[in-house]
Amino acid sequence: MPTINEIHEFAVEEGIKEDPREEDQIEEELEEREDQYEGLEGVRKEKFDEDRLDNPFDDSKVFHGGEEEVDRVAIGIDIETQELLLVDRLNDKGEDIDGVIAHHPQGRAYAWLGKVMQLQIDSMNKAGIPVSQAEGIIQESAKKVRQGVHPKNHPRVPRSAELLDIPFMNLHTATDNLAYSFMKDYLEEEDPRTLDDLVDSLLELEEYQWELENGAGPEIFAGSGNNRVGDVGVLGFTGGTDAGDDIIDKMMESGIDTLVAMHATRDQVEKAQEKSINIVTAGHMASDSLGINLMLDRMQDEFSLEVFELSGFKRVER
Ligand SMILES: [Fe+2]
Ligand SMILES: [Fe+2]
Repeated sequence: MPTINEIHEFAVEEGIKEDPREEDQIEEELEEREDQYEGLEGVRKEKFDEDRLDNPFDDSKVFHGGEEEVDRVAIGIDIETQELLLVDRLNDKGEDIDGVIAHHPQGRAYAWLGKVMQLQIDSMNKAGIPVSQAEGIIQESAKKVRQGVHPKNHPRVPRSAELLDIPFMNLHTATDNLAYSFMKDYLEEEDPRTLDDLVDSLLELEEYQWELENGAGPEIFAGSGNNRVGDVGVLGFTGGTDAGDDIIDKMMESGIDTLVAMHATRDQVEKAQEKSINIVTAGHMASDSLGINLMLDRMQDEFSLEVFELSGFKRVER
């Protein structure tokens, strides 16, 4: 039986393989962290999260019970105290769940959400936005995200896991990277002509069929169904969170016609309508599930691991 730490390490390695950055670029960033760490003193060194020296995904962390062995894990998109209590309750009823994996970050993984946004410089660049322009957008929005999440109650959910003694970790960008790279290749291969065709392509995937059933399947947020897709940017799939509405201007300047995202903000949609850029939102829970499913396919090849679905996660095997 794998431990929570072993599962986490495996997932980080797989997440690196599908990262929009080159692997040696990630290596370099980790080496820079090592140098910074060596230069720290006192409480800053003492409280440094040494996981950051091997794990480039600051929004994907183990919170409790890393050494515990697990063979049946509950997986959900949002795990808060209510889900942890639910798991505890289910175990009382005989479910035998011995660990929990969240997708969206909690604790310090949430506090550091802004840090993983750096990789969007590379996903934007791969979509055709000049690197200087991508850097401009990301530096600014990462700062906004950092300041926005700073005041939240970070110790809350990890502490609940500790009190209930439920092994608990999350995988955010590590699995979103898999969804990103899958979606990029998938849409290239499908090569949809119109936005309606693009939505149909998404609906061939079981996760999106499931979300359609739940009332939030793939939807055209800007543009109309018979618009041509043109050049596609899979820009809102990985790298923490939305990079704001400046991305719409940069898309226009760089000749990208259609944004495919997990979700889009109201500001992005309004600007896209104004600038005649198309936005297709694939669906949030389905896209997050897609990334986790691709990761689980690899994980279950490596470890024997049973999965219990909750909180917006749907297991689909490929
Ligand atoms: Fe995600
Ligand atoms: Fe998400």
